[in-house]
Amino acid sequence: MKRSLTISGQFASSNDMTLRCGDCLRFLKSLPDQSAQLVLTSPPYNVGKEYEHEQTFTEFIDFQRRVIAECVRITKDGGSLCWQVGNHIDDRGAVAPLDIFLHPIFSEHDELYLRNRIVWHYEHGLHCRTRFSGRHDTILWYSKGRDYVFNLDDVRVPQKYPGKLAYKGPARGTPSCNPIGKNPGDVWQIPNVKANHAEKTDHPCQFPIALAETVILALTNRRHLVVDPFLGAATTAIAAMKNGRRAAGAEINPDYVRLIRQRVRLLQRGELPYRPRTRPIYTPPPNSKLTRHPAMTNGASRNGQETG
Ligand SMILES: C[S@@+](CC[C@H](N)C(=O)[O-])C[C@H]1O[C@@H](n2cnc3c(N)ncnc32)[C@H](O)[C@@H]1O
Repeated sequence: MKRSLTISGQFASSNDMTLRCGDCLRFLKSLPDQSAQLVLTSPPYNVGKEYEHEQTFTEFIDFQRRVIAECVRITKDGGSLCWQVGNHIDDRGAVAPLDIFLHPIFSEHDELYLRNRIVWHYEHGLHCRTRFSGRHDTILWYSKGRDYVFNLDDVRVPQKYPGKLAYKGPARGTPSCNPIGKNPGDVWQIPNVKANHAEKTDHPCQFPIALAETVILALTNRRHLVVDPFLGAATTAIAAMKNGRRAAGAEINPDYVRLIRQRVRLLQRGELPYRPRTRPIYTPPPNSKLTRHPAMTNGASRNGQETG
């Protein structure tokens, strides 16, 4: 992508990006009713990240309720809201999956319909000693109204058996599955943005462009407005503009706003590091120096017995 993007702190429907440094609730109140096709966000989880201030779980939920109400107001009929969340861990170490607490808030809005609870599975993270290590987050996807944009063909993935043929009936001998690919399903395996990921910035909690891109391609059309109230490193906005959509959002931390401007400049120059959505997950070769256990050489197993 090499083109100049119009960026402004004040919303105008002609902006490619509306970027506000400040609180999202104030920002959302400045957006017109029914202006956004999609709200896609990952809110701060209140889990002690460096960008979070101390608040009780109840305060966190109350704030989310106010943000969600504004997001419903600005979303068009036929648009969507997507909330990507993980777990809150309380001070006793008990796990609270945030979607369980947020779904009742979305359900207060009769015009919203839950369409999918998408599981985002990734392989890197903390190694837990007292429970199984967490390796997924969820995305709650709600449509506003019964009719909504869903471009399935734009996000299809390769079939498992593309060469499979129908073996009976009038279609016998012809491909039995859709030649342009299959529905990606509601479990998405996409590498998370950790140290060696091409997209890693100084932000501690980015999601990958591929995740935002999948949602945006499926739920919006060109020039539609995509809003993220908690921009972070602006992955949602970047995925939107990269695909010819308009973007708007707020970020409260001025350091991250500087980072956002830098990423948008790189995007405009066609230089933003990006892990393509279609790149398969890396599987290390089975017999490399790193994948073979050091003790498993010369046919000997770890416990000293001969292997077959
Ligand atoms: C989980 S991060 C979002 C990361 C983003 N999805 C990305 O991929 O870059 C949440 C962000 O919300 C910001 N934030 C927290 N409270 C906010 C508020 N009231 N208004 C706007 N931004 C806020 C934090 O500074 C943090 O950068």
